[in-house]
Amino acid sequence: MENLLSVREVCCGYVTRSLGSFGRRIEKPVLHGINLEIAPGEIVGLVGESGCGKTTLGNCVLGLVDYSGDIIIDGLRRGTNRRDMARRVQAVFQDPSASLNPAWKAGRILEEPLRINRMGSGAERRRRVDEVLELVGLDPSYKNRGVHELSVGQKQRICIGCALAPRPRLIIADEAVSALDVSVGAQILNLFRELHQNLGLGMLFISHNLNLVYYLCDRIAVMKDGRIVEQGSAEEVYGNPRAPYTRALLEAVPAPPGQLGAATRG
Ligand SMILES: Nc1ncnc2c1ncn2[C@@H]1O[C@H](COP(=O)(O)OP(=O)(O)OP(=O)(O)O)[C@@H](O)[C@H]1O
Ligand SMILES: [Mg+2]
Repeated sequence: MENLLSVREVCCGYVTRSLGSFGRRIEKPVLHGINLEIAPGEIVGLVGESGCGKTTLGNCVLGLVDYSGDIIIDGLRRGTNRRDMARRVQAVFQDPSASLNPAWKAGRILEEPLRINRMGSGAERRRRVDEVLELVGLDPSYKNRGVHELSVGQKQRICIGCALAPRPRLIIADEAVSALDVSVGAQILNLFRELHQNLGLGMLFISHNLNLVYYLCDRIAVMKDGRIVEQGSAEEVYGNPRAPYTRALLEAVPAPPGQLGAATRG
């Protein structure tokens, strides 16, 4: 079966200057030859300490930063056709308030990704907005709500709706529940799970929280200093971590994968 996502030998770095814009040019490598694959409908968790390059890898897949190497999404190589990419991959980020235009109603916000990608007629787009609201567990009246009339959890549902609207097959969720309190975070996590089950969505779920990743993901990739040091099924990585770094990461988790993890994982 063809992979939904293939990341091959991806390297990426940032250029900074030592003293504002006149300083010496410093190239800082961040990703060193990343290889990662996601099968259709699979959820892969990407964990690792802050600054190791998780967001950078997500941004490479989303085409937001330059990189070397190859990224193939649902049969299409990144860098070929931008518009076709919208139907393949979409993102959900950490801070829903920062992702939504405060001047717009939720309905317009949800329609925008379809409009900018020139998908469907006006009537088709409005129908899709209703469908998407249902998918994210909000009733159609939410179309008329302003952003300030939504709770943080509802805002994140709208962000997820925007990602779903173009019917992508892959979602990059970068710390998408990290800014939410525990109960709202659990609801959003369950929503991701439902969407995965009902729509067969593949997902790269980036998180520094190992318990969340264990609960949600089929497979886990552990990143350290821009390299993937271990990959395996959630059970393998948790039950029998091979890389010393994974062991250290697991030891740093205060609670065992209980609460959200073992009790509910089926
Ligand atoms: N736009 C940028 N310009 C320069 N350096 C950057 C830029 N974005 C990230 N970096 C650096 O690249 C490295 C990797 O950052 P990245 O955001 O990918 O880490 P992360 O694993 O997502 O961390 P976190 O868990 O805190 O979100 C860090 O050292 C960071 O300082
Ligand atoms: Mg990050």
